[in-house]
Amino acid sequence: MNDPHRSTVVVSGAGTGIGRAAALRLAASGRHVTLVGRRRAPLEEVAAHDPSSFLVADADVSSPDGARRVAGAVREAGLGCAGVVASAGGNAPAASDDSLEAVRDHWRAGFDLNVMTAVLLVEALRPALEADGGRVVLLSSVSALRGSRTGSYGASKAALHAWMFDLAAQLGRFGGTANVVAPGFVPGTEFWAGVSDDVVQNRIAQTLVGRVGTAEEIGGIIAWLLGPDAGWVTGQIVSANGGMVLGR
Ligand SMILES: NC(=O)c1ccc[n+]([C@@H]2O[C@H](COP(=O)([O-])OP(=O)(O)OC[C@H]3O[C@@H](n4cnc5c(N)ncnc54)[C@H](OP(=O)(O)O)[C@@H]3O)[C@@H](O)[C@H]2O)c1
Repeated sequence: MNDPHRSTVVVSGAGTGIGRAAALRLAASGRHVTLVGRRRAPLEEVAAHDPSSFLVADADVSSPDGARRVAGAVREAGLGCAGVVASAGGNAPAASDDSLEAVRDHWRAGFDLNVMTAVLLVEALRPALEADGGRVVLLSSVSALRGSRTGSYGASKAALHAWMFDLAAQLGRFGGTANVVAPGFVPGTEFWAGVSDDVVQNRIAQTLVGRVGTAEEIGGIIAWLLGPDAGWVTGQIVSANGGMVLGR
């Protein structure tokens, strides 16, 4: 691996929620972090915590051009790539009506948001990742393990699992790793903006520990997977859900 000061960890969805918490935790542990998202303002708010630790790269990474722009910014800054955290994702807007066209558009939007954002970012950075023995963390969900009741969300997250198995084999040849982190219910992020108290209480009741998770807890797991103690952890689905789903 390069000197960590010359090599960055690229975090998508870094302006809010879990991505933001991961970026701040990584920077606190001495890593350089490239902050990726479509809106520049939230990324700059994170970067302001310690400008020397962060590079801001605003881009829509569901598009090849956006992913290329991020890889170009990393290269132009003279940085290698020690890792990618693919936290961009969420629920696509519901189908506008019952037509098959609307159903198809909803599923495609969910796949773009949850799968293509991760695939294109990793592929754009693959040469740099391979050169550094870099590590990849993909954000999935408990919904990939038990369904999301929306059909498309859990299914698009589950697609990340099989791809991660391939990535682990490919990056392993270079000393790198790939893993999935599958959180349970973590309110307080934009994903859950406006969630009702009924839903919060219902989700809490499904846990064994009687509480919701925090973005900081998930950020800590992500930072551990990128840190010195996790080099032998690869090809795994790391679940953090308060005991909502057991053993997987
Ligand atoms: N919170 C939970 O309970 C929970 C549970 C399980 C899994 N997850 C997963 O964890 C990840 C983070 O979720 P979160 O809760 O932290 O939600 P969040 O606050 O909505 O974060 C999602 C981030 O992704 C960015 N993003 C979306 N589309 C993008 C694109 N095309 N290109 C670049 N950036 C994009 C958004 O910023 P811009 O709008 O500025 O682009 C936003 O910062 C998601 O993948 C989510 O599915 C969350």
